[in-house]
Amino acid sequence: MGVRRRAAVAGLLSAMLAVAGCGNDGSSSTHEVDARGPITFVTQKDNSGVLPFIADKWNKAHPGEKVTIKQQSDQADQQLSDFEQHFQAKDPGYDVITVDVVWTAEFAARGWIIPLTGQHKLDTSKLLPATVTSATYNGKLYAAPYGADGGLLYYRTDLTKKAPTTWDQLTGACKGKTTAGTITGAKPACYAGQFAKYEGLSVNAAEAINAAGGSIVGRDGRSATVDSAQSSAGLDFLVKGFKDGYIPKEALGFQETQSLNAFESGQLMFMRNWPYGVAVLNGKGSKVKGKFAVAPLPGPSGHGASTLGGHNLGISAYSKHKATALDFLKFIESDTVQRNNLTVGTLAPVLTAMYSDPALTAEFTYLPDLLKSIQTAVPRPITPFYPGVTEAIETNTYAALQGQMSTQQALKSMQAAIKSATAGG
Ligand code: GLC
Repeated sequence: MGVRRRAAVAGLLSAMLAVAGCGNDGSSSTHEVDARGPITFVTQKDNSGVLPFIADKWNKAHPGEKVTIKQQSDQADQQLSDFEQHFQAKDPGYDVITVDVVWTAEFAARGWIIPLTGQHKLDTSKLLPATVTSATYNGKLYAAPYGADGGLLYYRTDLTKKAPTTWDQLTGACKGKTTAGTITGAKPACYAGQFAKYEGLSVNAAEAINAAGGSIVGRDGRSATVDSAQSSAGLDFLVKGFKDGYIPKEALGFQETQSLNAFESGQLMFMRNWPYGVAVLNGKGSKVKGKFAVAPLPGPSGHGASTLGGHNLGISAYSKHKATALDFLKFIESDTVQRNNLTVGTLAPVLTAMYSDPALTAEFTYLPDLLKSIQTAVPRPITPFYPGVTEAIETNTYAALQGQMSTQQALKSMQAAIKSATAGG
């Protein structure tokens, strides 16, 4: 476990006790301040170009309670560490924050975001159930679903007419059309996802493992179940990919942006990524504009399952303008914002009705596939000890992908590390 994460987990138990002591129901002193006024919304880098619309719309309607948007980096781990630093400093300047689905439990357990109950209640009846669950901890809603995320397979329609449904079909389709082992060859490389050592690697590893019938933790969300023959078969798709060259070596440094850049410049035949990539790849300067499509992720014997991703908006316990913050959360659930997020940024809406809206399904023909990807997506473990769990997945997967450990050694070591990460609670 990295130093930062070790410290984070160590401080967590006492934070959880402190929160339990004050009821954790919105009644503690930090939750009482409920005034109105300007707010700051801190969120990940806007690669989708949707934030100006949100800021303009809100600010025109709320001249006395304007929102200032602070953009973080586009890297999941950097966003998390920025939030951890500001919350530890009890910064009142971070009113509304974007909570990755895997941070909900930790932020809630530490008392950093307030429950959306009582006077802060939010109507969730129109939202996709999976997104509501992703924002819920210990039976309470802590954040407002903002953007769902389901993984998709991007493929080059000029190189293959049909999307593969299995891993064998995918590697088979690459034969003769790709360069093995690198993105710098005369032909594109076969496949890449996100394989740098960060949160996205846990996402990709879990997808491979789940697709082959394996699992990482049990239904209780904490017991380690990853050391199995099924998990081994799943992880091997990625390990063999690097060994046999259907995944280029450069992908060991890929987060979302780098994999998208490689696909955009024609260096990949297949790519796993989130829905926002569609708008970027159709944008100016894209070499694959009009030459790609998206489909469900493949698996060993038919479609695999995505890892559930996504972001929700939480209200900081240290915000001095929580009433305004709550109205901002309601605003981001509106048809106007969600429709703009989809039409401008191809971000997956959280409003169920949008997936059967005739105007939208006509323009975005893959919406049914996307809905299926989200509805069948497998959540990552919902535990305040998630930082330790993801560290266990990342470190050992990365070692296996680099060929420093066999797949089986990696899974054994992952199993032990998950056990010790979740043993505290
Ligand atoms: C996307 C997902 C998020 C995930 C991250 C990993 O932003 O929405 O859930 O943790 O990618 O990089």
